[in-house]
Amino acid sequence: MRIISLLGSPHGLKGNTGRLLSIVLAGAEAEGAKVEVEILKGDTVLPCLGCDICHKKGYCAQKDRFEPLRESIAAADGVVLASPNYIFNVSAQLKAFMDRCCGVIHCMSFWGKYGASVVTSGGGDEEPIAEYMNHFLLTTGAVPVGAVSARMSEMPEGGFTDKVEEKARELGRRLVSAWRASEVPQPVQEQRQNFRERMQALITYRGPEWPYEYAYWQEQLKAE
Ligand SMILES: Cc1cc2nc3c(=O)[nH]c(=O)nc-3n(C[C@H](O)[C@H](O)[C@H](O)COP(=O)(O)O)c2cc1C
Repeated sequence: MRIISLLGSPHGLKGNTGRLLSIVLAGAEAEGAKVEVEILKGDTVLPCLGCDICHKKGYCAQKDRFEPLRESIAAADGVVLASPNYIFNVSAQLKAFMDRCCGVIHCMSFWGKYGASVVTSGGGDEEPIAEYMNHFLLTTGAVPVGAVSARMSEMPEGGFTDKVEEKARELGRRLVSAWRASEVPQPVQEQRQNFRERMQALITYRGPEWPYEYAYWQEQLKAE
């Protein structure tokens, strides 16, 4: 299994989120996965310009790391998102990547990938952020298998509790085992199917403005 992970912290792998992400990835590696980490600094993936070129042509026209990353994820089996809590949400660095995935979401182009999310905070609100990240993964077509988080005010100096470490390792292992077994839990199956129908309806309606996405869904519908 090949996993691409995106780390939206300016502190990179030495920061809290990077260290928690590394434990998740070690769990996945112990099960035989190959992992890669892309650190999203402020200019790695710039904010979306709202130009609609992705909807019209199927790629983003901005020349930064977004397109190579999109292609790497499309060619991989798994994707792990990691972010610190920045004012009750993901960091702007990760949010820029998510926004740039507007065309990915319209076509659910990461269909069949397996995903997980990692969050750290100073003092709270990790859960809704992790849920948001996993919801994002689902709308790209991926199957989210779970999340791990750490509230740093409750962690021992410079580290994580044994419980959090074990949860992180287990998440990495589960990502690989779910992918191996092609597991898609019933609620995920239903939510993904509902979202797929919503995207099909949206793109059919907006067809004349968004020719790439229209042609994409026409092909999908023909194949069904
Ligand atoms: C701009 C900014 C905003 C933050 N907002 C919150 C917040 O709303 N709630 C919270 O609990 N922690 C907040 N924090 C603390 C970080 O989430 C926390 O220190 C996190 O573990 C940092 O991860 P890192 O070392 O990987 O960057 C914020 C930190 C920064 C720099």
